[in-house]
Amino acid sequence: MDTLHTMLVDLHSINRWIIVFLGLYVLFLSARGWFGKRAWDDNAGKFSKYFLIALDVQLLLGLILYFVFVASQGGFDYVFGNPASRFFLMEHSVMMVIAIIIAHAGNYATKKAQPEGKFKRMFIFYGIAFLLILVSIPWPFMPGFGRSLLF
Ligand code: HEM
Repeated sequence: MDTLHTMLVDLHSINRWIIVFLGLYVLFLSARGWFGKRAWDDNAGKFSKYFLIALDVQLLLGLILYFVFVASQGGFDYVFGNPASRFFLMEHSVMMVIAIIIAHAGNYATKKAQPEGKFKRMFIFYGIAFLLILVSIPWPFMPGFGRSLLF
């Protein structure tokens, strides 16, 4: 169980960086397209798909981790009584699920938009999702529940 737990946390931690870099690139492409009044191109759609795939993988890993984490800490009663652990089961998980839903809604809204409005929708939806993700990551400087930058 310990090895499985460590493996899942490591994968979840590494994938965080894939999400951060893809998110930044997708925001760069959409901002450049929107403010530069560029024609829609498939490149933006391709990277937006990669970003969503990385988010879905993270959601799957997170859902498994949720229960492995509770089991490793000795059950829900302990975890909810301890603010550092509760952060992962409440603030972190809930905010990340909301961010992933907003990103998927953004993908749908971008597909439905007229070509000249696609970059704008992509930037707004993905921008909100990305901000929620950034503030919900347990960065090392966060008091109580900060984690390392990789392992
Ligand atoms: C964009 C989405 C997400 C990102 C970027 C993210 C990022 C992270 C990071 C960086 C950690 C710390 C890993 C470490 O200790 O090295 C973590 C821990 C954790 N995450 Fe996520 N996460 C995301 C989504 C989720 C979701 C959707 C859930 C649950 C539904 C979840 C559940 C957890 C749990 C339970 C832990 C604590 C794991 C443990 O210490 O055993 N995460 N997450």
